[in-house]
Amino acid sequence: MEIRDYQPFYLDSPGALAKEIIRLGVDLAVDDDTAALAHPLEIGHKQISNRFCAQPITGCDAGPAGTPGKLTLRRYRRYAQGGYGLIWFESTAVGPVGNPRQLCLHDGTLDAFSSMVEATRTDALARPVLVLQLTTVPAPPDTVLSDSDIELSRDAFIQAAVLAARAGFDGVDIQCCGGSLAGSLLGAFSRPGKYGGSFENRSRFLLETLAGVREKAPSLLLAGLALLNVTCASPNLRDPAAGRGLSARSDDANPDEHPLMTLDRQLRIARALREASPGLAVVGSGFSWLRHFLPQVAAGAIRSGAIDIAGMGRGALAYPHAPAEFTARGKFEANSCCMVCFACSLLQAESESVGCVIRDSAVYGPVYRGMRRFDPDQLFASARRCHMCEAAPCISANPTHTDIPAFIQAYLKGDEDKAAAIIRESDPLPELTSRLSPAWVMGDGACIETSLTGTPVAILDLQYAISWRARGRGIIGVRVPAELTGKRVAIVGGGPAGIAAAVRLIERGHRVELFDISDRLGGTPERVIPGSRLPEVRAELDAVLQPALDAKRLQIHLRAALGENLVIDELRTAHDAVLLATGVWQERSLGKVPGVVDALTFLESAKRGSTTIGNRVAILAGGDSAMDAARTAQNLGAREIYIIFGGPRSEMHWHLPEIWFATPGVHAMMNWQPLGFEVDQSDTVCGVRIRNVGLRLETVLPVDFVVEAMELQVAGSIHSALAGIKFSAAGTVEVGDNFRTNLDRVYAAGALVNGGASVAQCVGEGVLAAASIHHDLVTHSPTS
Ligand SMILES: Cc1cc2nc3c(=O)[nH]c(=O)nc-3n(C[C@H](O)[C@H](O)[C@H](O)COP(=O)(O)O)c2cc1C
Repeated sequence: MEIRDYQPFYLDSPGALAKEIIRLGVDLAVDDDTAALAHPLEIGHKQISNRFCAQPITGCDAGPAGTPGKLTLRRYRRYAQGGYGLIWFESTAVGPVGNPRQLCLHDGTLDAFSSMVEATRTDALARPVLVLQLTTVPAPPDTVLSDSDIELSRDAFIQAAVLAARAGFDGVDIQCCGGSLAGSLLGAFSRPGKYGGSFENRSRFLLETLAGVREKAPSLLLAGLALLNVTCASPNLRDPAAGRGLSARSDDANPDEHPLMTLDRQLRIARALREASPGLAVVGSGFSWLRHFLPQVAAGAIRSGAIDIAGMGRGALAYPHAPAEFTARGKFEANSCCMVCFACSLLQAESESVGCVIRDSAVYGPVYRGMRRFDPDQLFASARRCHMCEAAPCISANPTHTDIPAFIQAYLKGDEDKAAAIIRESDPLPELTSRLSPAWVMGDGACIETSLTGTPVAILDLQYAISWRARGRGIIGVRVPAELTGKRVAIVGGGPAGIAAAVRLIERGHRVELFDISDRLGGTPERVIPGSRLPEVRAELDAVLQPALDAKRLQIHLRAALGENLVIDELRTAHDAVLLATGVWQERSLGKVPGVVDALTFLESAKRGSTTIGNRVAILAGGDSAMDAARTAQNLGAREIYIIFGGPRSEMHWHLPEIWFATPGVHAMMNWQPLGFEVDQSDTVCGVRIRNVGLRLETVLPVDFVVEAMELQVAGSIHSALAGIKFSAAGTVEVGDNFRTNLDRVYAAGALVNGGASVAQCVGEGVLAAASIHHDLVTHSPTS
């Protein structure tokens, strides 16, 4: 990798900045007197209370149908509480279709937008003026919209502006910058017809739209007529050719001009526009690079007539309380300012939630790290730290006993096919296992680099990236042998254990019938684990199983429930062996009262989008699903989340990064044992009785929602359907050596046996059970 030139931020005082401005020959004023920034300004019939504007930043954090998400609301509330006089809301699609995770304004989201406006105004430091930027999703490249398409868009903008007024916005902005419809048409010199060619035609769309908005929503301030946000590059963008930083992966290149020159250019454009339209309030851009000298230069730009309002884009993300601090102390705090690091642009480029990774790191640090963790440079650097240990501890810690050093070595040598093959030798579902297993108890946890450097080799991330790329190359399907053994095996349960066993049995030439109670394969991962943790469960399963389905070696029977339409004795009669891998379907409970729900039900309904949550939520933790429940509760808007666990942290399985526990509102209550529930007059839960294990202290934690995620048990229905099968004292199916149950030719594996261990453990058991079945049916069968 090329080492970039180090260019320190070398300005240590307004005086040094003023000297630099003279050296560069740019026309920027640096004012010691910054009082102008606190002056109110009349815009149309509205007044803004100061000259700070939080500029639009596409947040990529919208919820379903384009509704403002939790982080969207947080962003705008922080701006309002931080005292910005003008808040310019991000680019919002008109109508129901936007880019991924983009806000969309339409009838279905109007209420959510009204709530966002209300929430923004609540607790605002000074009543901010709220402007909403409207846009359309760009047409695919080389598409030429017809005149009637353009007219439909115009009407959609007008309709959305009417909705914006109803939601309570003070103004709207028809987005005109790069890639927008209005912007493209303004440059449509060669377009025939009434929307292209002459300036009159090129501006027709914008003027018709503005006229329509003025007629249908006369109360709104109109950007373009009353105020204008002028923006055309972010100073210090390291690759100016990349536009405004939206493809900032190229941020290694140095800028070809000094940031002060970019700012100067921006302000000259703003001044020209301002002078051409007296009365137009102009928001200037490009100040963030100045860090804590922003007030002096912005005040100079206002006094010299270049702009009326100082815009902060990335600067506002980093420093949402900048205006409040300026009012209180007359200056910006250097350590709170934007560092111009581009991380926000990178997040946006990947449609991840956008925020300041540096100054708001508790929230956006994990998002950013999650995004980068599969970058080739990160993975390669991590792989290079592998010591290729003899008797590697990572292998024994991993339930599938994958030869980790061997696959890492193949990867480092550039042979990814070989690396994928090594992984698949021991693990038929490596994407699933690597994403869902708690890394710290598996290979990563055992890696000697943890002791040597504090950071393990990212084994599971490497496994995941290698495996998903192998899927992309079409090489992960089950290998179906030409020869058949003539044996038929029934597998009950299409989760990780059942599928892993099916793959291995098919590879050994057996026919498999796979039965599952639900309407799709995948078991717990597919049904309950949040999609954010493993977006493509189906894709891996389908790719693995397809060759067996094509070769008719595998038959899948869905909605097949043991004890109902599936009877174990019949399965035994029709097959040479039966493997039970149903999983366990019942959370241990302290008692069922309204407001208390088990983790599996909670996660399943959250995944289907049909659940509600309280404000103060207790997660009774112990099992693997506790962390998913906690994260899901957070995503659904719970304010306070108490993770209550009867043992020390070291005994709790969790897959969330440690820093997650530092998220505001999350309380990890270790060594607190839940005893039972308190209910209110309507018999709904209002508290959890808890006891501190060490202090022997008992108290009641007030909550309004409880998720029980302590420990899974075999569901009663499975128990009765398996009447002839011996269960252990722990309530799981008892298996002897090699996963045999007490019934002849009936085997069991996965959560039914281990009580709900990691996915990797279940896959590992499925593989071993298949080997055992094969051994009994073929290698050691008297008929073979
Ligand atoms: C991640 C990101 C998203 C942005 N989204 C928008 C947007 O939705 N609409 C818009 O007009 N400008 C958008 N901008 C431009 C900013 O509003 C601002 O003009 C630009 O970042 C320059 O100001 P700064 O140096 O203060 O960041 C975006 C910029 C960034 C970095």
